[in-house]
Amino acid sequence: MKKFAGALLAAAALAFTSSAWAQSSYPERTVTVVVPFAAGGPTDTVTRLVAESMSKDLGQQIVVENVGGAGGTLGAGRVASADPDGYTLLLHHIGMATSATLYRKLAYDTLNAFDYVGLVTEVPMTIVARKDFEPTDLKGLVEYARANADKVTVANAGIGAASHLCGMLFMSAIQTPLVTVPYKGTGPAMTDLLGSQVDIMCDQTTNTTKQIKGGTIKAYAVTTPQRLDVFPDLPTTDEAGLPGMQVSIWHGLYAPKGTPPEVVEKLSQSLQKALADPNVVARFAELGTVPSPASDATPAALKAKLEGEITRWKPIIEAAGQYAD
Ligand code: MLT
Repeated sequence: MKKFAGALLAAAALAFTSSAWAQSSYPERTVTVVVPFAAGGPTDTVTRLVAESMSKDLGQQIVVENVGGAGGTLGAGRVASADPDGYTLLLHHIGMATSATLYRKLAYDTLNAFDYVGLVTEVPMTIVARKDFEPTDLKGLVEYARANADKVTVANAGIGAASHLCGMLFMSAIQTPLVTVPYKGTGPAMTDLLGSQVDIMCDQTTNTTKQIKGGTIKAYAVTTPQRLDVFPDLPTTDEAGLPGMQVSIWHGLYAPKGTPPEVVEKLSQSLQKALADPNVVARFAELGTVPSPASDATPAALKAKLEGEITRWKPIIEAAGQYAD
């Protein structure tokens, strides 16, 4: 009996040691971060900047995989069902919260399918249009949209996307439904806006800053309470006649539920370093945003944010009566 107990103890110690060793040596191979939108959009931009910095810190390649479709829920579902080993992560935004209400048949349980690594950034949005669109200011856009509701096309990245949410808030604010045109991300949507194939879009500054500064699209307002340093002459929605239409797009880094806590902690520590990386800080500033503080780049902060945002947006979405299924 003693021999058996000794063998059992040895096996348990070996199992623990190898598991603990594996986790302490994590990552031992390439890590994949899923972006649930097409390449070239704001979520992709934020992820690649953060992933590049985390990769240097962790000493392993971090590749970005774009899994677009259904407003980000396809990509989120991919990660929800991935092995919880720390080698498949998800960088997603406010859509994690809004999709919990918008989709009544999600392939995953939003609050129980993920472990939380931390918040990444909160990005302002801009109401923009194709360069040759007639209205010259937000007041004019509202009047034009109300008079041409069946013609004005609004690009978004699918129900559940930040661009969809902002477009929904805009249409609710002007009490006029417009023609929505979904894309797999606002990267491809921006291509059509630049080509005057679609009229307007509400998108994050991480995707619109270059075009606004370059004059290749028209900008009407920012959706933040205060004007942005990067666009001092661009009015807020409050100033421009749409009071209360404010929304900023927070982003979080997630792992599948059941990922070893030591791995989650190591990822959170690496994320915090990336968000303090001078290159990341500088690039975010050029794109109109700032990294989340280290105190927010934690599992507890992201969990609290997601739970609070699901509660906050549920009644707003229900009042708008927009569901995906
Ligand atoms: C969105 O609109 O939700 C996304 O930001 C689109 C994207 O990142 O491509």
